[in-house]
Amino acid sequence: MAILELKNIYKTYNHTKEYKGEILDNINLSIEEGEFVAIVGFSGSGKTTLVNMVNGLLKPTEGEVLFKQKPVTGTSHERGVIFQNYSLLPWLTVYQNIDVAIQQAFPKASKQEKDVRVKEHIEMVGLTHATNKRPKELSGGMRQRVSVARALSMNPEMIIMDEPLGALDALTRGNLQDEILRIWETSKRTALLITNDVDEAIYMADRIIPLNPGPKATLGPEFKVNIERPRDKTSLNDNPEYKKTRNQIMEYLMDLGEQQAAQSTVEYELPEIQPKDFRWHSK
Ligand SMILES: Nc1ncnc2c1ncn2[C@@H]1O[C@H](COP(=O)(O)OP(=O)(O)OP(=O)(O)O)[C@@H](O)[C@H]1O
Ligand SMILES: [Mg+2]
Repeated sequence: MAILELKNIYKTYNHTKEYKGEILDNINLSIEEGEFVAIVGFSGSGKTTLVNMVNGLLKPTEGEVLFKQKPVTGTSHERGVIFQNYSLLPWLTVYQNIDVAIQQAFPKASKQEKDVRVKEHIEMVGLTHATNKRPKELSGGMRQRVSVARALSMNPEMIIMDEPLGALDALTRGNLQDEILRIWETSKRTALLITNDVDEAIYMADRIIPLNPGPKATLGPEFKVNIERPRDKTSLNDNPEYKKTRNQIMEYLMDLGEQQAAQSTVEYELPEIQPKDFRWHSK
């Protein structure tokens, strides 16, 4: 049964007579309980806007978002979001940022249970040494890891991720991908991942849907990932199904990119470069 449904979503920002601000149009998406869906798309096409409507932070201009058959009217700890910009509370420590989320999700748990849960999740993202630091004392990647821990600590029914691992080095990124997959698989969650990394999408998702560039961005055709789980990252490159899916998606995205460039009304004039410009501070 569908846990999340987006029906005919149309979204504009700051709509005026002169400026339409049309970001998303005709968005229809249904995600089954337990499914892992990835949306891949170009920067600025409206991915965060889409995520924020699923999360309940934004309302669609037209259309509706249903979570468990009920309209989404605000945020809920049933949907844990890993935000693109971390969204940590700057005056709280790593411990407190996660604690706040746990207090909301498990108001009846004992103090000790909450404490164990906070510490477990800090350890999961390898930040035990930074437990008492505030966000400004952390690097971008560390903040992103706190954001991952905070979302997962709430044990949400649906994990929503808006380019969650972009700021991380390859090793940490790989570890967290596996951690998110482990939690999704063992606790039978539903996941929606926004990413611009096709390989990440194929490694993690059951189904990949491109978001075509806007204005009035729409969802493209879906690509099913028919690769057995658990997936093995090291042998993925040699997997014919992986190669096929990757080629199909890359071709689709490259065609979109070309169409976009051809439709662009802006004409760029290339500066004329004289040979002397290549000389570095020559005397
Ligand atoms: N609050 C806002 N008010 C007005 N316009 C907005 C607002 N938020 C986003 N936009 C515009 O909506 C469009 C889509 O933005 P959005 O952040 O959803 O894109 P995105 O696909 O998440 O991009 P990125 O990959 O860079 O994160 C952009 O043109 C952006 O300028
Ligand atoms: Mg975004």
